Amino acid sequence: MSLVGTGEIVAPAAHGGYGVGAFNVIQLEHAEAIVAGAEAVGAPVVLQISENAVRYHGGLAPVGVAALEVARAAAVPVAVHLDHATETAMVEEAVRLGFGSVMFDASVLPYEENVRVTTEVVRLCHASGVWVEAELGEVGGKDGVHAPGARTDPAEAAEFTARTGVDALAVAVGTSHAMLTRTASLDLDLIAALRAAVTVPLVLHGSSGASDETLAAAVVHGMTKVNIATHLNKAFTAAVRGRLTADSALVDTRAYLGAGREAVAREVAHLLGVLSVRRPAVAAS
Ligand code: G3H
Ligand code: ZN
Repeated sequence: MSLVGTGEIVAPAAHGGYGVGAFNVIQLEHAEAIVAGAEAVGAPVVLQISENAVRYHGGLAPVGVAALEVARAAAVPVAVHLDHATETAMVEEAVRLGFGSVMFDASVLPYEENVRVTTEVVRLCHASGVWVEAELGEVGGKDGVHAPGARTDPAEAAEFTARTGVDALAVAVGTSHAMLTRTASLDLDLIAALRAAVTVPLVLHGSSGASDETLAAAVVHGMTKVNIATHLNKAFTAAVRGRLTADSALVDTRAYLGAGREAVAREVAHLLGVLSVRRPAVAAS
């Protein structure tokens, strides 16, 4: 039984200066693979379910309860997180189901409106001991268009976190969602400036566009929670495609989804190794 709160995984990582892998679950096989990869390297991990994945399944409970059960059976600490929620009703359902955290994404709203709705979600979640992540400075690509241009202002980030009471902050530093190539260039100086400006852990979204070296550099400069989805789907799909191409008579879904699951588990184990890099301790002045 190893379902834990997200803060129990992210807070020690933020203090220790190492990264936490947060991987998106769409099918049950994703959850199984992500936990298998984490168990292979003995690392904690976050299973996250996006509002888009919930829409795909027609509801949060079927995929959410499955992820929670996979987490409970894990041999390593596993948290379950609602990702990119924009509807308060879905946040309330996640809290009821026993999720450890939610990311409420009001980043498209004007600053004051983002502060207002995020503060309300923090109040609702903290009343049930649920950890909250918010986003400031919209990370692009959510509409499928690669848009790495937005940047989060450190002073605004400090004010936003203080006013809303969020537990972690997603920031725009050069990544963009759903990139198929790992060619994103991150603003490492900005990550360091954000790290110095805010007290809560920082979250990197759209991390599939970053190479292993760039992910490690992001952690060294101050990122803690690192969200990865598309990269794992690439691994999953390539394995499934390979299996089906190799055997045109194959009809048992377990044979090809199992190949996808194994590929994702291997990649999760690799990425958790990349993220285990440590930020050098800052000398006390
Ligand atoms: O919230 C989820 C992530 O930001 C995943 O983005 O698909 O580009 O890795 P990605
Ligand atoms: Zn994201």
